[in-house]
Amino acid sequence: MEKLRREMTAFFQKLYVGEQKILVFGEGKTPARVALIGEAPGEQEALLGRPFVGRAGKNLDEFLALSGISRAELYITNTVKFRPVKTSAAGNTVNRAPSQEEIRLCLPFLKRELALVNPEVIVTLGNVPLKALLGRQAIIGEVHGQWLAWEGKRLYPLYHPAAVIYNRALRPAYEDDVRRLGEALRDKA
Ligand code: URA
Repeated sequence: MEKLRREMTAFFQKLYVGEQKILVFGEGKTPARVALIGEAPGEQEALLGRPFVGRAGKNLDEFLALSGISRAELYITNTVKFRPVKTSAAGNTVNRAPSQEEIRLCLPFLKRELALVNPEVIVTLGNVPLKALLGRQAIIGEVHGQWLAWEGKRLYPLYHPAAVIYNRALRPAYEDDVRRLGEALRDKA
């Protein structure tokens, strides 16, 4: 994993010369039973250099509580390892969705990372990691909470917790999906 991180750092330093791209690597046990893949780091994540901290960390705590999965069983990472930003009309630096190009550049590293983590289950959060791994035809609204497969591993797509906060109508489905994931893992334990 250290080698992978060094290579990733060198690759993006060379690609984005002069830009301050802070890479936020995955966190957790390797190997881990469950790999949780988000979209990209936000402001707090880039500041602290850790995935899913700040507001997103609260979502993660809720995920753990609902599923009954322990933090020790989990490896958490993002599809894109740096914070995608744009300048708002008011002149502030704000988050934006990662571009297809950024996702494409990060994907080989994510695949190597997953090979090292070797999880029993890959849990994708929202459309970005789902489409990165399965292709554009996969749509979260259609496949959330279903057991899919990726490269011989079980893949379980969840809505992104941020989408659930934004669109309250998704909450019952999200909670049900997370509970069922926990049950499936306990049944197999
Ligand atoms: N924080 C992360 O690290 N990833 C997300 O997808 C959202 C917030």
